[in-house]
Amino acid sequence: MQQLTITRPDDWHLHLRDGAGMPHVLAHTAEHFGRAIIMPNLTPPVTTLEAALAYRQRILSALPEGNQFQPLMTLYLTESMAPDEIDRAVDSGAIFAAKLYPAGATTNSAAGVKDIKSIYPVLERMQAKGLVLCVHGEVVDADIDIFDREPVFVERTLSTLVRDFPGLRIVAEHITTLEAAQFVEAGPATLAATITPQHLLYNRNQLLVGGVKPHFYCLPILKRESHRQELLRVATSGSNKFFLGTDSAPHPQHLKENACGCAGCYSAHAALELYAEAFDAVGALDKLEAFASHNGPDFYQLPRNSDTVTLMRGETAVPETYPFGEHVVTPLRAGETVAWRYGDAN
Ligand code: NCD
Ligand code: ZN
Ligand code: ZN
Repeated sequence: MQQLTITRPDDWHLHLRDGAGMPHVLAHTAEHFGRAIIMPNLTPPVTTLEAALAYRQRILSALPEGNQFQPLMTLYLTESMAPDEIDRAVDSGAIFAAKLYPAGATTNSAAGVKDIKSIYPVLERMQAKGLVLCVHGEVVDADIDIFDREPVFVERTLSTLVRDFPGLRIVAEHITTLEAAQFVEAGPATLAATITPQHLLYNRNQLLVGGVKPHFYCLPILKRESHRQELLRVATSGSNKFFLGTDSAPHPQHLKENACGCAGCYSAHAALELYAEAFDAVGALDKLEAFASHNGPDFYQLPRNSDTVTLMRGETAVPETYPFGEHVVTPLRAGETVAWRYGDAN
């Protein structure tokens, strides 16, 4: 297949950050994607409806003239959030999910949740109001190996949430393991998962063989090849429980190339192209449209986009860096090529 026309995709897990860098990374996503679920892990985190609405306005103001991209805002769950915040959020029509960060699990998660039971009243309200729960699924216990943090979370916490909240729609974000993939696949229709391009394209050798490659360091960390194979299997299986969420997570280059480098890969510059490579490699390009453009809106109970985009086979060069406010960000595939590009009409 040399050319692929699909319904316009959405990104169900995106970090746009804030301030001077935000317009730079927003432009990449907004050029081709219809909507994105905007992650709330700013400093300070987006914990109130007012903060989310103000952030939404800053995003809309930064869009290129005439661009129709819709930011779907989220709230950052804390142990002190009042359940009424959920009612106000849902009634505003601007909030589409709330995000569970186990405290300490990832970038800007310090204000997250230590004891899951402490947010049960908020989760009850989300279940009643139909607000989606997005989850960073890793435990933070010092005695749990970093490569096991997701499977242990699935076993201890995700399975408990699914049992205790049978009516709550839950998205296991950026899944990276066979255990998570199979748990979601076998779970109820209320449970779905996003998968990033890096976890479909790379295993942990990419991060660690021949030297530490900080631009491949993200959380959950890249896993061994057998996990990548299982992620590819479920993503291309035709199951409607798996969909596109890039987790594009820009950090200034100097904070990645650092003795204590930040977690996060930047992929917004070539997001759909990278997924197309991954699907093509297993002969499953015919499954890309459902993954990128149908399953997400269906799960979130939103309409699918009504227009299309076209991808053509053909190498696109990726620069070493992109501007990111007063700094630069190193993208996935920096200085290399991606095997697909958008057609002229898009
Ligand atoms: C994300 C970030 O930088 O905000 N980093 C990452 O490694 N994925 C946070 C997250 O999604 O966990
Ligand atoms: Zn995360
Ligand atoms: Zn993320």
